[in-house]
Amino acid sequence: MGEFAQKRIIRKLDLELFLSKISPQPTPQAHLEQYTISQSVASTMLYVAAYADNDIVGKKVLDLGCGTGRLALGASYLGAKTVVGIDIDELAVKTAVENVSKTGQAEKVQLILGDISCIVGEFDTVLQNPPFGVQTRTADRAFLAKALEVGNSVYSLHNHPVTDEKLIKQLKATNGFLEVPPSPFLERFVLQHNGVVKCVYAMLMTIPKMFDFHTKLKHDFVVDIYVIKKVNVK
Ligand SMILES: C[S@@+](CC[C@H](N)C(=O)[O-])C[C@H]1O[C@@H](n2cnc3c(N)ncnc32)[C@H](O)[C@@H]1O
Repeated sequence: MGEFAQKRIIRKLDLELFLSKISPQPTPQAHLEQYTISQSVASTMLYVAAYADNDIVGKKVLDLGCGTGRLALGASYLGAKTVVGIDIDELAVKTAVENVSKTGQAEKVQLILGDISCIVGEFDTVLQNPPFGVQTRTADRAFLAKALEVGNSVYSLHNHPVTDEKLIKQLKATNGFLEVPPSPFLERFVLQHNGVVKCVYAMLMTIPKMFDFHTKLKHDFVVDIYVIKKVNVK
């Protein structure tokens, strides 16, 4: 991408159109919590990272638990310098490879099949939609710890801690996102790992029925986008 294009703000609608081309996980596995991030949550997370905090354009980006690559590819499309995506599931990475080639992002996006623990080095920005720990309690903690070990800015998606009908109503009415306080547990965990929660945005996430324990055709729930900064960045 040329210098001019790097500085141009990409419209959110164009980003959503781009994200809609990315195929989701064909046979999601419940134990890995393999649901694909919705287009609206992915585009909001990417937009906040790119244009509120300047954490995407020209940056080295890492997508932990990249699945089929929606966040990794979105970051590349918005102008990241390089993007690394890693996932433990072979079919997810195979689908991500197909998504990279069909969206023309092969020059900048590198995909790894493996456990997040094998990532070393330093990244400007980490994007992640980790397993929330619904199937395996605490599954999201290893992701947060790794993100803060290797990244300077972290955008991490988490389950909203309580079912808050008033918040759901407000989010449905605005079709947008609202700033909410961080969960005290996650705020403490981040502090213990040399980071600080800058803000948290709640959004409604809608996913199609994909697991037997989903009782409705569509599943609506509130997710929180955590914006986290490492303290003492060199
Ligand atoms: C909720 S899905 C998110 C997928 C994708 N980032 C998205 O938002 O569409 C979580 C992903 O983390 C992957 N995963 C779970 N544990 C992992 C681990 N230890 N190392 C690497 N990937 C892992 C799963 O295979 C799954 O694709």
